[in-house]
Amino acid sequence: MLHLKYKLVALFLLAGSALLAQKENAVVANQLVIVTNNPGPVISKDIYGHFSEHLGTCIYGGLWVGLDSKIPNSYGIRNDVLFALREIKVPNLRWPGGCFADTYHWKDGIGPQNKRANIVNIYWGGVTEDNSFGTHEFMKLTELIGCDAYINGNVGSGTVREMAEWVEYLTSDSESPMTRLRKENGQEKPWKVRYWAIGNENWGCGGNMNAEFYTNVMRQYSTYLGNLGGNNLYRVACGPSDINYGWTETLMKDEETRRMFEGISLHYYSVVDGWDVKSSATNFDERQWFETFRLNYKMDEILKGHSAILNRYDPQNKKGLIVDEWGNWFQVEPGTNPGFLYQQNTMRDAITAAIHLNIFNNHADRVKVANLAQMVNVLQSVILTKDDKMVLTPTYYVFRMFRVHQEAKLLPTDLRCENYSYKGVDIPALTTSASVDAEGKVHITIANLNPSKEITVSCPLIGDVYKSATGEVLTASAMNAMNSFEKPDVVKTVSFSGFKLKDNVLTVTMPAKSVVAIELKK
Ligand code: AHR
Repeated sequence: MLHLKYKLVALFLLAGSALLAQKENAVVANQLVIVTNNPGPVISKDIYGHFSEHLGTCIYGGLWVGLDSKIPNSYGIRNDVLFALREIKVPNLRWPGGCFADTYHWKDGIGPQNKRANIVNIYWGGVTEDNSFGTHEFMKLTELIGCDAYINGNVGSGTVREMAEWVEYLTSDSESPMTRLRKENGQEKPWKVRYWAIGNENWGCGGNMNAEFYTNVMRQYSTYLGNLGGNNLYRVACGPSDINYGWTETLMKDEETRRMFEGISLHYYSVVDGWDVKSSATNFDERQWFETFRLNYKMDEILKGHSAILNRYDPQNKKGLIVDEWGNWFQVEPGTNPGFLYQQNTMRDAITAAIHLNIFNNHADRVKVANLAQMVNVLQSVILTKDDKMVLTPTYYVFRMFRVHQEAKLLPTDLRCENYSYKGVDIPALTTSASVDAEGKVHITIANLNPSKEITVSCPLIGDVYKSATGEVLTASAMNAMNSFEKPDVVKTVSFSGFKLKDNVLTVTMPAKSVVAIELKK
């Protein structure tokens, strides 16, 4: 109801302001109207979540180096990576997969490290893992980052008992076999676990189930996922890929089923030129640059499609959409193990991140969690590591710029902008979202997708009066500019002065291929 009121008032104000603007200035090429005094839903901090899978060198080497490593670490976790992650305020971390999750048996990863069972990672490169990173190490990692744990349980090859015992081991404070085991392994007190996924991609690598079969299996598993020791699990049912609206419909249509979960996951990757070809991550032309963003924008359509189904069955907005895998999926770096999905990251990925995060903010009423795939050394990572070296990617800087939106309230915006066109296809040249935080500061994030054209956008502020503004920008001279181990500081944020604030109208000149964050104060 509150959101409906926000939407109606916002629509009215935005329509009024757009008319006014048109009257005053017949041709308004690029205009972003922001209503500052009628905030909408809170932007869940968990939209800024990350994903760490046992895949390539994400865990082993990227996050975990072990207690005996020469690389400076805390309890086996790399310090350089830890500090960088704390800086972007990672709110939650998903683990252990991905496809790996439905092969993972958690009891293999507890107890003395030298006694743990070796396993073969069948989905990712067929490598043998020594399981030195397991439940205790993951929970320590979340504690050191200062984020919530998001654990993905095994439905595909696990059992109901195995999953129920994992929850008991982690969260119970009763005297029980699992809590005794946990204490024997050095953890006296139960942990808190916020999010729990009931399988991953169970329509594919998680068991090749159809929607009806999975729905019944999920109901069975969910029955035994207890809220123990004062913990309150947010249960995530495995949802669809892309536009598989039938899957969402099957999960949502029945009231009994809806009681078994709080959120539905959704996976969408942008794969330029299809799965068989894929764009190179670093060696691409303007066609592929454009195509990446055209595909990125589809996230908005996909969210609208699934939200429409949720709105029918859950008009009170109780169920969340959990976009727990998203990002660009390119070719692996030449010479690297194809099963490790290791890709570099450029200015193109930074704009991809801005497009997605703006879309998620603007869907704050439904999107409660999102997890970029993946945190370190896999797909669109925020961090790359090589031995003792670490590089922060262009995507990292976007997460740093956007962290101010976490738990702020979404502001109504109306963006009318020119298109970025390539060979007769058009997409909006600008993407944006705005929020107001608890201290009353307004945060506006904008990206300019056009690789060769600066764009000036005029932003009338409807509502409160703002007296000062500051800004940051991320841009680069080349579309494929990147940070490497040899040159780690090619793409990074700098202070931005390409704006003016006069009579409550903010005018921003967006450099070509850039991401800008502006903060307004009264
Ligand atoms: O992120 C890589 C893989 O992509 C995940 O393991 C899987 O869930 C998805 O298909």
